Amino acid sequence: EKHGFRHFMIKEIYEQPNVIRTCLEAYINPTWNEQNTDLNPINLGLFDLLDDIDHVQILACGTSWHASLIGKYLIEQLANIPTVVQYASEFRYAPSPITTNTLTIGVTQSGETADTIAALETEKQRRLALPREYRPRLLGITNRPESTLSYMVDQIINTQAGIEIGVAATKSFIAQLMGFYLLALDLAYRRQTLSLEQIYRIVEGLHHLPRQIETILEKQEKHIEDLAHEFNDTQDFIFVGRGINFPIALEGALKLKEISYIHAEGYPAGEMKHGPIALLDSKVPVVAIALPGKVYDKVLSNAQEAKARDARLIGVVAMNDLEATHIFNDLLSVPEVDELLSPIIAVIPLQLLAYHIAARRGLDVDQPRNLAKSVTVE
Ligand code: F6R
Repeated sequence: EKHGFRHFMIKEIYEQPNVIRTCLEAYINPTWNEQNTDLNPINLGLFDLLDDIDHVQILACGTSWHASLIGKYLIEQLANIPTVVQYASEFRYAPSPITTNTLTIGVTQSGETADTIAALETEKQRRLALPREYRPRLLGITNRPESTLSYMVDQIINTQAGIEIGVAATKSFIAQLMGFYLLALDLAYRRQTLSLEQIYRIVEGLHHLPRQIETILEKQEKHIEDLAHEFNDTQDFIFVGRGINFPIALEGALKLKEISYIHAEGYPAGEMKHGPIALLDSKVPVVAIALPGKVYDKVLSNAQEAKARDARLIGVVAMNDLEATHIFNDLLSVPEVDELLSPIIAVIPLQLLAYHIAARRGLDVDQPRNLAKSVTVE
């Protein structure tokens, strides 16, 4: 069932454009347009679960935690609601002080991760006997509508990515990101924190993503496979990004370490000078996400600091970015998109890089050592 692909992971990477299409078809109202002001463009069916929210807290592990960090960015920037993201394994033993009118979101593709389930149960139990403004309001973002998570929350966003077999999460991550874009837009529409015109532009941008990802897969995979051959002896990698792409640096590092067993770290680029820069020399490649937007110049200057320490610099950059060609040793070029949507584009070359480095080393990409697809023990 790998349909000619060498591993499930690469097959699932290629399924990502269709995962986005499925989400848009399921959750954008087909009759909506900018002029139709009375119709919510987003159709997640969440009804009054989203009314009068003062706070959002998101609980997750691993890659789902990375998706949650981007979710926080979107909910705060588009819908203006203060949002915290916690590791489920930490929250369950030290929940933060209880707040009013709080939406708690559990994010787990499998719906079975023990820590995430327990963290949500902790949250539910401590709120049950309290006054109305403290009542538990639980939303799940999951790829499994029949899971333990699904039965314990009030409602779910079913991410509909289809079964994921590779242990390293790829298409389920993209689907979780889609869930967060749609949720943030739903909240922004209800609270009128964005104009209809702004919502329209974002929805339009989402519709272009599948084709843009296909462009990366068509034009860049061979190049990334060749590049991967140059890291046969590399033992450490650093990934940096800022703003909405900081979590993508974390995700790039996690993908690489879990399937290639290469030590990798993700940092917000501005933090490098507070310690990690001491690690850099010619043996430690630095992958920087340097896409057009608010933090572009800042990332470039952080990248230059790394270059001054002899690091080999790999840039995830926009295809037409000439400036970048002078700074980076290697380019992972992607179509230019609005900064707000760029995480969905930026993660694709990083998935491919991790995949090809691991495949090149002859490793069991779909079943990496010591890992399980769903972590049902604490
Ligand atoms: C990384 C990966 C893990 C999972 C984590 C949470 O590629 O697969 O980090 O993201 O174990 O899993 P779920 O989303 O099932 O709760």
